[in-house]
Amino acid sequence: MKGEVLGYDHFGRGIVKCNGKVVFVPYCKKGEIISFAIVDEKRQYAIGENLEKKKSICPFYLLCGGCQILHLSYPEQLLFKQEKVKNILKRYTKYDYEKEIPILSTEPFFYRNKVVLHIEEDRLGFYQEESQKLVPFAQCLLLKKEMQEAILKLREYIQTRKGLEEAMIRILDGQVMLVLKGKADVEEIRSFFFPFCHVLFLNGQALTKEKKLKTTIFDTTFLVSKDAFFQVNDLGLRKIYQVVLDWVKSLSCTVAFDLYCGTGTLSLLLAPYVQKVYGVELSKEAILDAKENQGQNRISNVSFFASDVGHFLQRNKATPDLIVVDPPRAGLAKNVRRDIKKRRPAYLIYVSCDPMTLARDIEDLREFYLLEDVIMVDEFPNTYHVECLCLLKRKE
Ligand SMILES: C[S@@+](CC[C@H](N)C(=O)[O-])C[C@H]1O[C@@H](n2cnc3c(N)ncnc32)[C@H](O)[C@@H]1O
Repeated sequence: MKGEVLGYDHFGRGIVKCNGKVVFVPYCKKGEIISFAIVDEKRQYAIGENLEKKKSICPFYLLCGGCQILHLSYPEQLLFKQEKVKNILKRYTKYDYEKEIPILSTEPFFYRNKVVLHIEEDRLGFYQEESQKLVPFAQCLLLKKEMQEAILKLREYIQTRKGLEEAMIRILDGQVMLVLKGKADVEEIRSFFFPFCHVLFLNGQALTKEKKLKTTIFDTTFLVSKDAFFQVNDLGLRKIYQVVLDWVKSLSCTVAFDLYCGTGTLSLLLAPYVQKVYGVELSKEAILDAKENQGQNRISNVSFFASDVGHFLQRNKATPDLIVVDPPRAGLAKNVRRDIKKRRPAYLIYVSCDPMTLARDIEDLREFYLLEDVIMVDEFPNTYHVECLCLLKRKE
């Protein structure tokens, strides 16, 4: 079959019409006439396969599934994300928002500071999307260049010794954290990977004196432990935090809640601009990092709570005039939205990694809020994901 690619769906797949039915075809470009085959037919739509496979700069592109829009040029990718978020907000919310939504670009390649690799015998790679089939790889264009050296070292190890199953590598400010799982001799691992790795773990046991990585964002230092959430794009995270800080500086608020605060990055960056910050996060380990970060930076006007956000809002009676939320993809739970509506702070800043749940949540708040500003940051180039930031202002 042949057809013209009319546009993209939210996952970066091309939209082609065939006998009146919409067919979603991955790996094609808007405006192209493509040959495709239907691989899955549903009542309302079908999934197609592009028969004109393109040469990609990544030999693993079509196998791995980690990237979905690598075949688009970077300007085309940014345009796709702008259109996607614009359409989602238009379709799923009724805010009167006519402004263009800017997207702040980052570096399209070599940006990820963290990777989880699976190991089978002497091969390592990613699991194919939605499966446990290993896609062995030599190099990934998304990983920071320094990561390659760590992967080579790991590869050298598994060439002669079996037993390792998984490796998480994180690199911040040039320091390498390696978290290994599987069967291995502790002393052998230590002597092989130290001092190359600054932080080394095997099956949860620390093999180095240092257990956390240290990084500096603007002029604040942060410790990051192995399980704590930390944004994966060094440039992207700085752009995200800068947008939030610029908004906060312009608002003159006094009490802020930073909900879903991870290791307290935003809470501590916000501290100079308000009188008091409450940081709330479910992970006890992340809150320990946050408190240590607070001590290291001698910041006194922040209190951290290891709690579910919903429980915290139920119990805590403080009256913030600013709430910052940065939830996981699932967005805000119903009880959290209910509580925000009840407290009704003057401003709400929503940092979102899923525009669909963002749209659902801000639409739920529309009765009480105006959408003042929306900015996107391209934290995940070559994938369909995008970080979206909204500033909402309470209606008077
Ligand atoms: C997208 S991250 C945001 C982290 C932080 N704002 C940052 O920039 O590093 C979401 C965080 O929400 C936390 N989380 C998930 N569900 C939660 C809940 N119900 N209550 C509190 N925190 C939660 C996760 O552990 C994770 O650290």
